[in-house]
Amino acid sequence: MCLFLHFILKNNICNLKNSLSYNFTMKEKFLINGGKILSGEIEVEASKNAYLPILAGSILCDDEVTFLNAPYFTDIENMCEILKILGVKIRRDGEVLSLDLHNIKNEKISHEHTNKLRASIFLLGPLLAKFRQASISYPGGCNIGTRPIDIHISAFKSLGVKIVERHGYIYCNAQNMRAGKVVFSSISVGATESVMMSAVLLKGKTTLYNVAREPEVKELANFFNAMGAKISGAGSDRIEIEGVKRLKGVSFKVFPDRIIAGTHLLLGAMLGKNMRVIGARREDNEILFNILKECGCSLEEDEMGATISSNGKYNACRFIETLPYPNFPTDLQPQFMAFQTLGKGTSVIKENLFENRFNHVMELVKMGADIFVKDRLAIVKGVEKLYGADVFASDLRAGAGLVLAGLVAEGYTTISNIEYIDRGYERLEEKYARLGADIKRVKE
Ligand code: EPZ
Repeated sequence: MCLFLHFILKNNICNLKNSLSYNFTMKEKFLINGGKILSGEIEVEASKNAYLPILAGSILCDDEVTFLNAPYFTDIENMCEILKILGVKIRRDGEVLSLDLHNIKNEKISHEHTNKLRASIFLLGPLLAKFRQASISYPGGCNIGTRPIDIHISAFKSLGVKIVERHGYIYCNAQNMRAGKVVFSSISVGATESVMMSAVLLKGKTTLYNVAREPEVKELANFFNAMGAKISGAGSDRIEIEGVKRLKGVSFKVFPDRIIAGTHLLLGAMLGKNMRVIGARREDNEILFNILKECGCSLEEDEMGATISSNGKYNACRFIETLPYPNFPTDLQPQFMAFQTLGKGTSVIKENLFENRFNHVMELVKMGADIFVKDRLAIVKGVEKLYGADVFASDLRAGAGLVLAGLVAEGYTTISNIEYIDRGYERLEEKYARLGADIKRVKE
């Protein structure tokens, strides 16, 4: 009984600590005076959604790993905090992040950490591969949906992992985990990545079917193969992993963040005059590149990126729906909707991935957008102009969409809860100000 009380008490104390620390950190907001034409160059940071599983997976190496272009996203900082709990010694010198992985220990990953970072679930696979057991609290669902992990759990069970879910924790025993075949019940980026990592040191061949094909999955496989793993097929619908005995340390550079690249291109499609996005690659955003041209924007591609210009007058894109790669990415849906609010005509946007990813709609409507939502559909009727307003970011990509809307709107816009935006964009206001935008970070 006393153990149970201890657990409840500890849990409440850490929640209280969380809320106190949350209230004590000074809140900030963006102040934007919209309508400025933007030009010049902007460089895309390395991919958040590649770095997060790569950082989690690095614990499978018992050497030193150096990352050469680690951005200052708070999601990456939070993942590093969890790695420190597991005994990883971390040094950061600018964008160079060095991990000393010689003394990894298996610790329980508590709610305090998993609540801040959905990607904490990526540690499950590596912990099972290294220690054959793991205890991790359910990852936080953010505002875009419940974010279940049933696909992760059933995939691990099919490799012989024993899993008990109790009091918000997942207790896994992988003593009997064996190489074999996993057929995912539906496509999940995180589950593909976590299970792929769990098989890297597993004796024999493991084959994964019905996997996510996102470029971040491929980049994760590239990282492991650079350390001596034997992973083939990443980026296709079937991945094969031949277990190896150990992994050697490497220096690694992660590819550009395709969602940040898409965000900048959409900004350029509204306000750009020869705005060059360094790191924007057609192979990561084929559909977006095609849509921007069809909408009437000028998009010149070169070996380093793409230059976009727009006269601010463009056609609406009649229909787009978010689906797993190579289809239109859900992480660009809010930014794309901001772009479509000023399109000539009506655009229908269908959000298939997350059940609650239209939180930005009300905020865009406050700015004069004409949007009607029914279930998973948003009908966006283009208007002449958006007008500045006081709006609130509800999640990372909704916040990015509101920044685009504020930059194009007439008058002043404030965007609160910008800590969401800092999770996946690095000092966005400074980068956009260098293109000519009138945007500042101020105290709430
Ligand atoms: C990754 O999340 C990304 N996050 C998300 O980016 C991205 O939106 C998502 O993939 C889809 O592309 C990272 O890589 C850190 P999923 P993940 O498992 O792995 C359902 C951002 O803004 N599902 O592919 O959590 C799930 O609810 C973030 O950078 C289950 O039902 O996404 C969703 O409807 C937001 N059971 C769908 O599958 C599960 O066990 C796709 O989710 C797992 C997922």
